[in-house]
Amino acid sequence: SIPKLREVFKNHFLIGAAVNPITLKREEELIKFHFNSLTAENEMKFERLQPEEGKFTFQHADELMDFAAANGLKVRGHTLVWHNQTPRWVFEDGRGGQADRDTLFARMKAHIDTVVGRYKGLIYAWDVVNEAISDKGEELLRPSPWLEIGGEEFIARAFQYAHEADPDALLFYNDYNESDPVKREKIYTLVKSLLDRDVPIHGVGLQAHWNIESPSLDDIRAAIERYASLGLKLHITELDMSVFMHDDKRTDLKAPTEQMLEKQAERYRQIFDLFKEYKGHITSVTFWGVADNYTWLDNFPVRGRKNWPLVFDLEGKPKQSFWEIVG
Ligand code: XIL
Repeated sequence: SIPKLREVFKNHFLIGAAVNPITLKREEELIKFHFNSLTAENEMKFERLQPEEGKFTFQHADELMDFAAANGLKVRGHTLVWHNQTPRWVFEDGRGGQADRDTLFARMKAHIDTVVGRYKGLIYAWDVVNEAISDKGEELLRPSPWLEIGGEEFIARAFQYAHEADPDALLFYNDYNESDPVKREKIYTLVKSLLDRDVPIHGVGLQAHWNIESPSLDDIRAAIERYASLGLKLHITELDMSVFMHDDKRTDLKAPTEQMLEKQAERYRQIFDLFKEYKGHITSVTFWGVADNYTWLDNFPVRGRKNWPLVFDLEGKPKQSFWEIVG
């Protein structure tokens, strides 16, 4: 018989999946059986919730919340302040120019008040700021309209507004390439400076978009250690394990090879063993999807390429990767 992931890891962390309106319906049974946490893959992003100023569209987000409540799952909120999937009006003055700083912060506050306020007490953790750190060399913060107009203070503001809107929600800084040693130190520096200024931040989200070869287990461990040393909670927020190594751009593969699946299973076992070592630090682990029949990695970053990065196959059956993590 098939063990439930949420039972297997109940003494360690919540186990979650990112869903969209289609997968929430199609994978309903799998979701209810295995998971106790949900994240909206897209439906709680700025452009989905407030496509026009003051016009909020909560239908899909509400449906996810209702499903979660009806089935006893918790919800992680994703995401409030990000350079992607944020409508242009946020940064514009409506006369062809750029919004000024006060306007930008007023819009940020209005959005956060409305969204976090609506789900107050119902969302256990929010990714307040997503991907604000630069991937380039010495540069600390990613160039974006948030930074350009708001200055670096936009990050602290977002956390303050979120905390005011729901004082009980855990507030996270979330990023990818989080195990790269250079980016790791930048993330550490940012979060440390927020803590030093008493900004209400409670955790670091490790997106964990990994593949069967990288990052190395040593780099992942070092990143977990470093973030944990801040005394914050760690959530694995967007876990998947691409079967393609970094330089593999093949688009003609109709199915993953045996070798890929074996390597993937070994890697999944290694990282779950690692996550379990950090009991009390890592309190939530979310897959960025449910089963291999749909993943955002289909077509990304290589167009026309299918991927198989999750632990359930095209039919929703447990893969070798599943058996390794429960075993
Ligand atoms: C992705 C979704 O999975 C896609 O459907 C969408 O087209 C783009 O965004 N980092 C994040 C997530 O924080 O919000 C992204 O989700 C994946 C990378």
